[in-house]
Amino acid sequence: MTHAVDRPQGALSASARAADLLARMTLREKIGQMTQAEKNSVTPDEVRRFGLGSVLSGGGGNPEPNTPAAWRAMVLGFREAALESRLGVPLLYGVDAVHGHNNVVGATVFPHNVGLGAIGDADLVRRIGRATAVEVAATGVRWTFAPAVSVPLDVRWGRTYEGYGQDPDLVGRLAAAYVEGLRGADWATPDAVLPSVKHFVADGGAVHGTSTRWDRAAVKSLADDPTLANAHVDEGFVELLDRGAWTIDQGDVAVDERTLRDVFLAPYLPALAAGALNVMVSYGSWHGLRMHAHRYLITDVLKGELGFEGFVVTDWAAIDQIEPDFDVCVERSINAGIDMVMVPFDHQRFMDALEAAVERGAVAEARIDDAVHRILTTKARLGLFDAVGDPEREPALDAVGHPDHRRIAHEAARRSPVLLQNRGDALPLPPTLPALLVAGTAADDVGLQCGGWTISWMGAAGPITPGTTLLQGLQRLRPDAEITFEPDGHGTARAPVGIVAVAEAPYAEGMGDRNDLDLAAADLALIERVRARVDALVLVVYSGRPVVLGDAVRHADAIVAAWLPGSEGAAIAEPLVGVSAFEATLRYRWPAASADLPLHPFGTDPSAGPAALWDLGHGLRTHVERSST
Ligand code: BGC
Ligand code: BGC
Repeated sequence: MTHAVDRPQGALSASARAADLLARMTLREKIGQMTQAEKNSVTPDEVRRFGLGSVLSGGGGNPEPNTPAAWRAMVLGFREAALESRLGVPLLYGVDAVHGHNNVVGATVFPHNVGLGAIGDADLVRRIGRATAVEVAATGVRWTFAPAVSVPLDVRWGRTYEGYGQDPDLVGRLAAAYVEGLRGADWATPDAVLPSVKHFVADGGAVHGTSTRWDRAAVKSLADDPTLANAHVDEGFVELLDRGAWTIDQGDVAVDERTLRDVFLAPYLPALAAGALNVMVSYGSWHGLRMHAHRYLITDVLKGELGFEGFVVTDWAAIDQIEPDFDVCVERSINAGIDMVMVPFDHQRFMDALEAAVERGAVAEARIDDAVHRILTTKARLGLFDAVGDPEREPALDAVGHPDHRRIAHEAARRSPVLLQNRGDALPLPPTLPALLVAGTAADDVGLQCGGWTISWMGAAGPITPGTTLLQGLQRLRPDAEITFEPDGHGTARAPVGIVAVAEAPYAEGMGDRNDLDLAAADLALIERVRARVDALVLVVYSGRPVVLGDAVRHADAIVAAWLPGSEGAAIAEPLVGVSAFEATLRYRWPAASADLPLHPFGTDPSAGPAALWDLGHGLRTHVERSST
């Protein structure tokens, strides 16, 4: 079977194919296409029987064993089952490949968006999108829930690192490049991956204290929460509630429409213009009305005014939050303009509820037809009807973690650190250095430098996936220096230069919301212990956002914000030793004190508020130390 090469023609035949199929579908089959189930909550046989439109792996929704081959077998199992349904409509499998194909052990892990924003190079982001798409497609997956086009206002938000920064133009420019990268030559090529531009809209605008995700008084056992039980989030997280978990994420946005459009809607325009055919709705609300029930924003603005022709998907179990009565949730969300529902657990309950809503006239069948037409057209434009059953056309499995992709990740990691402070030109390190003291577990921990959304939803410390570390990079680039590594900084060695690495413990979503961003006392103590034993102190901070450094600003000669660089952490050593120059700049205002938060450039008169310790655009430069390669 051939498919059209030029896009307009491809779009036309895709739409015609969708219309033809639609005319032959029963209501129940249409609803099946609108249903997305989580992979542990559905079997291939159910996909076949009910003709489900999509299956997803959430964060950590991994097969056993977690290998590229097992991933591919799992995904193809679902895809093949869909082909055996009555009409054989191909399945779209979705994953959160938000910094590489990050659930897969051995995949290339790129820096989180906070670091890519600091670089601000659209071409690099495009190459990352391409490499990610190839790795994703190699496992049989053609849809990723990325890019986030969030503009995080309050950096205490646990999803700050998913956003490129507090500049809507930059966010839109990089998101568009990422969309182009995911697409490659054409959406219909077997290694093109459908983006989901998210979370519509103003996910970054939620106000601290407005999240209703947790009823703090009622939290007794995490096992009672199906989402957290599914994610194997352990009891240790209960204590995070005291530190501010779920205070911001999924909360309310209070800005006026002008600001909503200028700050939060603006980045969608370039991303959609680049051809993105899917948008995911935000858990949050605007002046109290849930985005998932927001007909004005989804139908009038996105589909009407912006002319969006793709389909709209919900977030994970998000419609459940609209109202206590699930039937009403279904009715209101579909009528608001949602096309596919990430159920994710009980797909039959959702399908029954939507069928009943159509039967009682609460949801018009024309709305169902519109939704399914959008889904089927997108599937056709991805070439799914042509590519199915022919895995030969998809990239080979060894694309996962391919050296070419790791080289791009290395480049991104090397270029992303922002040099915040550099007293006495402590950096780059002097070309001849007899001894170097490196302290802090974060200097040699792939999991810490990858952060959340890595192998599991929350991420974890330790060797969770192959990668390199800052310590390894220093050892390689300074073979002549005597390098002492003290994970806890409790030794007695002295050195002319000390490098201390500290890291935020990994987190994702509302679990990473905090009441304050003060550096942990243990980190400060580590910095003080090393300070006493070195002439110059370099502090490297791995974090998903600016953190409040307090006395560390005084103790450290040089301070490097290294963000969450991903699997290729050795690259961080390059600007430190001077084989490359620091070039990145701040895209988030960096607070001097937690009391100054939220701190962002929007609002009536930002200059009237507290000053930033380092402001947008800050980032010191260094020269390249040629003699030290
Ligand atoms: C899943 C994540 C998902 C989250 C929803 C977790 O169980 O693993 O992918 O984002 O639930 O809050
Ligand atoms: C997150 C989304 C994600 C989805 C699927 C949700 O909890 O908010 O960003 O794409 O889970 O994992």
